[in-house]
Amino acid sequence: MSKIIVAIDGYSSCGKSTIAKALAKYAGYTYVDTGAMYRAIALFTLRNGLTDEAAIIAALPQIEVGFVLVDGAQHVTLNGEDVEGHIRTLEVGNRASQISAIKEVRAFLVAQQQKMGEAKGIVMDGRDIGTVVFPKAELKLFLTASPEVRAQRRYDELVEKGEKPDFAAVLADVNDRDYRDTHRAESPLRQAEDAIVVDNSNMTREEQMQVIYDYFDRFK
Ligand code: DC
Repeated sequence: MSKIIVAIDGYSSCGKSTIAKALAKYAGYTYVDTGAMYRAIALFTLRNGLTDEAAIIAALPQIEVGFVLVDGAQHVTLNGEDVEGHIRTLEVGNRASQISAIKEVRAFLVAQQQKMGEAKGIVMDGRDIGTVVFPKAELKLFLTASPEVRAQRRYDELVEKGEKPDFAAVLADVNDRDYRDTHRAESPLRQAEDAIVVDNSNMTREEQMQVIYDYFDRFK
């Protein structure tokens, strides 16, 4: 079987990365978490106090985003530093949502993502993978789940990390982020016409993976 590109898009906290990682392992493919790339740039802007768009665009040539494998897990790097432990907070997530609306930031990362997919054999997750990064991807999945289910998942993750989140605030954040991700002028989150929609609100992880492995196996 020749290798394909799998594009996985969907709302925040609908389990994209868990699914993408599991599918990459199943397929023997490389996994790329593009949200982590936007988060790494967001972290750079927070650390350097960059808030206005022009300053962020001017800083792009000084930013290098990459990935390293640590004990088999993919960690994102920012100018060579493993920043995986710093990017999964609400603050960085919100900043990532803001900076990802900047056209130049998107062009900067999309070019790198397209390069990563040149040899195929890749599972990439994000918001614009099936629409902009790889419009010709052989398999496109669009994941959704209700805002309440996604807020609960994010809440549980934060609790697990030792944070003390407020559920209403987490839900409001999920709704705000959905709004921003779907209403921005540049590459808004939308389902590609040829994407397969998987609503996992009422599916166990196993049920969901079986559905997705079956779609992938059609390319065998
Ligand atoms: O998937 P995530 O929550 O880690 O993504 C963080 C933010 O980055 C999210 O608000 C939207 C943005 N993003 C994007 O615009 N395009 C992508 N391909 C991936 C993420």
